[in-house]
Amino acid sequence: MPKLTFLSHAAFLVEDEKTSIVIDPFLSGNPLAKAKPSDIKADYIILTHGHGDHFGDSLEIARANEATIIAPNELALYCESKGAKVHPMHIGGAFNFPFGRVKLTIAHHGSAVPDGTYTGEPSGVLLTMDDRTFYHAGDTGLFYDMKLIGEMNQIHVAALPIGDNFTMGIDDAVKATEFLQPEIVIPIHYKTFDVIDVDPEEFASKVQSKGFKPKILEVGESLEY
Ligand code: NI
Ligand code: MN
Repeated sequence: MPKLTFLSHAAFLVEDEKTSIVIDPFLSGNPLAKAKPSDIKADYIILTHGHGDHFGDSLEIARANEATIIAPNELALYCESKGAKVHPMHIGGAFNFPFGRVKLTIAHHGSAVPDGTYTGEPSGVLLTMDDRTFYHAGDTGLFYDMKLIGEMNQIHVAALPIGDNFTMGIDDAVKATEFLQPEIVIPIHYKTFDVIDVDPEEFASKVQSKGFKPKILEVGESLEY
């Protein structure tokens, strides 16, 4: 049974008995993060896109752990140019890794790393370990194909941005939950900056009233799924 730990913002550690994966590890300069990059033990790093609040400390963590970075092609090649071991993928493609399956999904957003290098299309991620599927939407606006993602995948946990301004806000994320039909939905990408300071309790009560099970994770809190 995999376990995910919320590292704040859009960052998660996902682990089972054999493998540890960190997603979008933005820790340095993140006002909400409690973990330091040196605290992270990871075999793989999955990046949804290049923005600083997702790319974060990935190169440092990759170097310290000899971890492989899994990312959309342009971003993966950028990481490789900085010395990281990478596995490039792209939207719509899935690959069976030793730990499970990763499929990249569309996300309507942008992608450039902090030095300004453009890094192609952003993505969301379907991560299946031990037959349990975690959907991390990345940064995105609401899109109707989420309905298709929900129809074609049994999603056990979905992490959806709710902070508005850069991504879906609360009401759009409620609609996304209806499209995706996850067993548990976790709000992410809020409070970190003033412009995304929304109340996750509002999201939780709205999805609950539609029959879904929200889980607001505190920073450092874990969930087995
Ligand atoms: Ni972004
Ligand atoms: Mn972001």
